[in-house]
Parts: sequence; structure tokens; C-alpha cells
Amino acid sequence: MPCSPLTNDDLEELRAFLSEADLTVAGLDSTAVRVWVERDHDGKIVGSTGYEASADGADVLIRSVAVSSARRTAGAGTRLARFALGEAARSGATRAWLFSRRSGPFWQKLGFGPADRDELAALLSDTQQVRLFTDTGQLEREVAWMRELKALRSEPGGPAR
Ligand SMILES: CC(C)(COP(=O)(O)OP(=O)(O)OC[C@H]1O[C@@H](n2cnc3c(N)ncnc32)[C@H](O)[C@@H]1OP(=O)(O)O)[C@@H](O)C(=O)NCCC(=O)NCCS
Repeated sequence: MPCSPLTNDDLEELRAFLSEADLTVAGLDSTAVRVWVERDHDGKIVGSTGYEASADGADVLIRSVAVSSARRTAGAGTRLARFALGEAARSGATRAWLFSRRSGPFWQKLGFGPADRDELAALLSDTQQVRLFTDTGQLEREVAWMRELKALRSEPGGPAR
């Protein structure tokens, strides 16, 4: 099923879905956070993806990319991540960043490379996730990744690489 933008009615189920995937749920209802969900034929959330942009829109923090455990390793995660990257590029962002301690190889296949955690935190200091990680001290334990989005900007509607 296609991704659809998160609505208030999705919030509670999405929080449970992301908690199950061990991802943060902070600030999902913030207007600055863009999240999409994917549902199965029974209407259950089976995937999610999203990002939050810096104040100037040039940088985005990819977040909430998750696939239900029974559906993993079949390409859904790649498709959902590419969807958020494509949306971010079309919104005018030039760089995508993210935190990932466990899924580095997954993101490297999507063009991400190791990045400076403090640079991420400075550029995206207003985002829900950076605020949460700074307040809780979790930032020190996080691993940062980044990729340029320029290559995607010339492909409106096309697949993100
Ligand atoms: C990470 C996640 C979204 C990947 O979803 P998926 O549907 O399994 O991903 P894909 O099937 O598109 O995998 C693409 C490739 O990445 C690899 N990969 C997927 N997850 C990986 C991981 N955690 N670590 C290393 N490699 C991984 C796959 O084996 C596959 O490799 P291949 O192309 O050689 O076959 C999924 O495991 C998930 O929901 N994890 C919990 C939430 C999470 O950690 N999200 C990341 C937020 S930072």
C-alpha cells in the first residue's frame, strides 16, 4: 500500500509501532515533523518513514524509518527510506542526516556515510530528536550518518538512489 501522511488518528498506533521497533516517539505530533505510514490490507501499520527539517530547510534529520518485524529484509525499508529522501530533496533540502547505532550497513547501502555527531546536533539543534538526545545525554552514545541530496533533486517523482 502507498505511504500516506500521518494524521492525528494514526498517532497512538504509530507510537506503539515505533516503540516496538525501539525507535523514539518524541515530537511525532509536532508540525515540523513529517511522517508517513504504510498499512496492510487489514489497516494495520506495517511501515513508517519521515524526517524533520532544520529551520532554513537545507538539512533534514531522517527518522521513524521502520518495518514491522515480519516484513523485514524484503526491500520495504529501502523503499520507505527512499520515499523520505525523495520528499526531503523535493522540499529543497540538500543534505540528509540521521542517527543509527545498529543499522549503519542499511544506511550505507542508501548512500550514507559516517558523519560528525556534533555537526549534526548543531545544524539540527531545533529538531525533536536532537533536543531529546541532548537533554537525556543519549547524544554521546549516538552514531551519526549523512548523505547529500543533490542527485535526487533533478529527479522529481523519480526513484531516489
Ligand atoms: C532498518 C529497517 C528499517 C530495514 O528494513 P528492511 O525492510 O529489513 O530493509 P531492506 O529489506 O530494504 O534491506 C536492505 C538491505 O539492508 C540490509 N539491512 C537491513 N536492515 C539492516 C540492519 N539493521 N543492519 C544491517 N543491514 C541491514 C538488508 O539485509 C538488505 O541487504 P541486501 O540488499 O544485501 O539484501 C528494519 O530492520 C527496521 O524496521 N528496524 C527497526 C527500526 C530501525 O532500526 N530503523 C532504523 C532507524 S535509524
